[in-house]
Amino acid sequence: MSFRSLDDADVTGKRVLVRVDLNVPIADGKVTDTTRIEEVGPTIVELTQKGAKVILLSHLNRPKGRDPKQSLRPVAAEVARIVKRPVAFAEDCVGPKAESAVAAMKNGEILCLENTRFHPEEEKNDKEFAKKLAALGDIFVEEAFSAAHREHASIAGIVTVSNLPAYPGRAMRAELNALARAFEHPEHPVAAIVGGAKISTKLELLGHLLHKVETLIIGGGMANTFLAVQGKAIGKSLCETDLISNARDILAKAKSLGREIVLPVDAVVAQKFAAHVPTRVISVDAVGPTEMMLDIGPRSIERVISVLARTKTLVWNGPFGAFEVEPFDNGTIEVAEAVAELTQAGKLISFAGGGDTVAALNVAGVTGRLTHVSTAGGAFLESLEGKTLPGVEVLLVSKTHGATRK
Ligand code: 3PG
Repeated sequence: MSFRSLDDADVTGKRVLVRVDLNVPIADGKVTDTTRIEEVGPTIVELTQKGAKVILLSHLNRPKGRDPKQSLRPVAAEVARIVKRPVAFAEDCVGPKAESAVAAMKNGEILCLENTRFHPEEEKNDKEFAKKLAALGDIFVEEAFSAAHREHASIAGIVTVSNLPAYPGRAMRAELNALARAFEHPEHPVAAIVGGAKISTKLELLGHLLHKVETLIIGGGMANTFLAVQGKAIGKSLCETDLISNARDILAKAKSLGREIVLPVDAVVAQKFAAHVPTRVISVDAVGPTEMMLDIGPRSIERVISVLARTKTLVWNGPFGAFEVEPFDNGTIEVAEAVAELTQAGKLISFAGGGDTVAALNVAGVTGRLTHVSTAGGAFLESLEGKTLPGVEVLLVSKTHGATRK
């Protein structure tokens, strides 16, 4: 896929609309996790340093119409703190308030427009609304990878209804580069770890990955359904009985494609799911009728690490066990540490993403030691499913206006 480079954009004196994802958690009017703001900070700073008029566009939560509690105003204040520059705020993202605020901007200044979802037209990808947004700028920068799976006016429509040249921002570009390195031209062998509670949310992902990887390592609650297909008694473990036939199909497809599937061989089991309850480590062939598998055991961890040792590129989505409750975080943490070590030793290119996965990597303290960690949830998952996201599609050189091929 070919995209324009921000290096080639002449932004000085231009009104640059930057679609960021400022959908951040807020409690008592204060932003409680600034990760997403920090990720887009460098693009904002770069544009101001180049003399652009930087206009931030974003949604926050899922308001039903205009709701002062869902205002981006406190988030704009947090952006100002992080980029160490004043950020003006306009109480609307279209119409007279937005227009006059943009008209008053000087080169190098930053303006944050109000929550785009205060207008229902945003989520409907309404053309007229998208045109109004587009009229506020001369250039569009897509810097909201985590929202790029939404076909909304400020993400996709704004480019398709206008002649705005569209560029990926620096953080967006890093995500696109990582995806390309994992799927378009990876170093083989490629392995994927897919974990998490349910197969139902990852069926498409599993199906797609089978075409992309040599080895598929399955963990988390979803592994139980596969073990059930293999005829194992899984006791009271989480199992999606209605998806047994899908799980069987995935195993059959893997066999016909010659792919290796790695399932747990042992497990940490308990009678109930709670912190620090009595546990025992057993083979997956020996789960008692009242027991549930809540993490992978030491032999499984060893097996996963031995696969990783012969892997060149790894894609990871989803934890191995019920990592949010101790001691069931052990399998995920041990594998995460191994991934970080192999990556740091230059033996593995590692990509991970998704809300739970990032939380697990943070618990393991290795987030900064992987090749790339995407904080996106749905957008990362859909990319792994092989979909071109609407917010990425509009950036493709063939789709943008007056683009220079690179
Ligand atoms: C996210 O937080 O995943 C993105 O901002 C998208 O938000 P949404 O799921 O409300 O569309």
